Amino acid sequence: MNLFEAISKRRDTRHFLEDPIPEEVIGVCLDSASHAPSVGLTRPARFIFVRDKESRSKVYDLFMEANERALELLHADPEREKLYSSLKLEGIRESPLGMVVCVDYSVLRDFTIGTIYSAETLDWSVCCAIQNFWLALTAQGYSMGWVSILNFAEIKKMLTIPDEYKILGYFCIGKPATDYDSMPMLKQRGWVQEE
Ligand SMILES: Cc1cc2nc3c(=O)[nH]c(=O)nc-3n(C[C@H](O)[C@H](O)[C@H](O)COP(=O)(O)O)c2cc1C
Repeated sequence: MNLFEAISKRRDTRHFLEDPIPEEVIGVCLDSASHAPSVGLTRPARFIFVRDKESRSKVYDLFMEANERALELLHADPEREKLYSSLKLEGIRESPLGMVVCVDYSVLRDFTIGTIYSAETLDWSVCCAIQNFWLALTAQGYSMGWVSILNFAEIKKMLTIPDEYKILGYFCIGKPATDYDSMPMLKQRGWVQEE
């Protein structure tokens, strides 16, 4: 698969097959992520893997709590509320591998080029790394889904993630069970109408 195919085929995946992910596949993704641009060459991305079922099940409970809160916000719009509750917005328990991606703010202890007025350039750098990781998964026939419907403060406590790390997302990684008819799932399911 060439780069342009990987870019257009990359999907946010919430439906997974049970196939395990070979370590080499993850190795290639981490290597690709390490080639991403980063402000002042700080390379602030940190990848924490969540392999055990018990932790993933706790993450799922946190998702359910956050999702309930999201649903409450839609109470005034029953049609939208119904559609929202029909959407599967995570694959936390089915995907064989979970991953938390963090921004390591401790890099700011040393002088860094490019962060004087905008420390959030570190966050943007980590997003670049995430995208490289995602494209490398896609090129190898795997995929992932970004879960942001979570109380990250709770995830931090649960996984004893250092204070100076900021969580950007929880990711469900595995072999995709579908490509949602080659379009974003939110389009396929009618949540977003676009040309
Ligand atoms: C920062 C960020 C957070 C996201 N959080 C979620 C999420 O919590 N649950 C979900 O189902 N999709 C989430 N998504 C995926 C988007 O909905 C998805 O990227 C978009 O609908 C386009 O679909 P595609 O990635 O398949 O092209 C997130 C994407 C980004 C970039």
